[in-house]
Amino acid sequence: MRPPAPSALGLLLLLLLPPPPPPAEAAKKATPCKRCRELVRKFNQGMVDTAKKNFGGGNTAWEEKSLSKYEFSEVRLLEITESLCGSSDFECHSLLEEHEEHLEAWWLQLKKEYPDLFEWFCVKTLKVCCSPGTYGPDCLACQGGSERPCSGNGHCSGDGSRQGDGSCQCHLGYQGAACTDCVDGYFSSLRNETHSVCAACDESCKTCTGPTSRDCGQCAVGWLQEDGACVDVDECAAETPPCSDQQYCENVNGSFMCEECDSTCVGCTGKGPGHCKECIPGYTKESGQCADIDECAGAEKVCTRQDENCYNTPGSYVCVCPEGFEDTEDACVRTQTPGGQVTEEDPTQPPPHEDL
Ligand SMILES: *[C@@H]1O[C@H](CO)[C@@H](O)[C@H](O)[C@H]1NC(C)=O
Ligand SMILES: *[C@@H]1O[C@H](CO)[C@@H](O)[C@H](O)[C@H]1NC(C)=O
Repeated sequence: MRPPAPSALGLLLLLLLPPPPPPAEAAKKATPCKRCRELVRKFNQGMVDTAKKNFGGGNTAWEEKSLSKYEFSEVRLLEITESLCGSSDFECHSLLEEHEEHLEAWWLQLKKEYPDLFEWFCVKTLKVCCSPGTYGPDCLACQGGSERPCSGNGHCSGDGSRQGDGSCQCHLGYQGAACTDCVDGYFSSLRNETHSVCAACDESCKTCTGPTSRDCGQCAVGWLQEDGACVDVDECAAETPPCSDQQYCENVNGSFMCEECDSTCVGCTGKGPGHCKECIPGYTKESGQCADIDECAGAEKVCTRQDENCYNTPGSYVCVCPEGFEDTEDACVRTQTPGGQVTEEDPTQPPPHEDL
């Protein structure tokens, strides 16, 4: 058998390529600026990847000369552009094809004058992007200026693209056209011509002028002004308790919580069987905790029929005739001769019985 001919191999590789993206993905394609930015990012990466190439590590004059020759060579440019687009990235390929001459001109002649490829290619030449800090068709400065858009405290709409309106979407704690003002719950910890920093108030404040509970303007909900500071309101100590009879109240800063009592409690003051006010029937306080009463162990017999067994259960007990006995109204009556049948049941457990 012959190995496959080169053309057959090529066809095979083509079949192995990933399928084109589905239509939905193609519909939300990147903006021209995003595509340009991505191309430049890959170009810069290609420059890094080829920077150390063809450099043997030696330092001879010949090597230096051949290296500097390679550095600005068309060979290197070709190597970089070859790695720019993924094999199935049609948009990237067409963008590259369309502007190959631009990239070559920059590489061979304009690199020195315009070292920033993004600025020269995407902003100045193709006019699909704006410089950082500017926005819109005419690349105007963002709110707060292009140096520090939104005073460094927010995102400028359209920043770096030919889109948007330059308005600011402020980070948490900031407000105002250029994000220089503090929202309620924050105070200004630094402010000069260029910088504005807002810091969070203490949790006890709704508004404040500094970081502690003594710096509150108004207290937050659940806190009250007392001796120059906002202090927590103990909602649980209120005359009418805020929780139901089968719950206990837990005060927390600025609020309170109602938690269910233990299942053995009738009313409680806290978590678990050790904080019951009273115990449910069948339980009694033992060293402060509501514990099950063992009715079978009491001095007074609770299972009174003859031959009857007593089994303790949580909160109660059951009276059961032993195996080989039958239940009648006032006694357990033997139905089998003793030893007539081997039982495999655990004698400490109640036998299966419908009345349990
Ligand atoms: C404003 O404050 C910032 C942050 O502390 C500082 O870096 C900057 O130099 C200050 N600018 C002026 C004009 O004082
Ligand atoms: C409750 O608030 C006080 C006063 O603001 C604070 O010192 C304390 O750490 C807070 N406790 C908790 C659990 O957040």
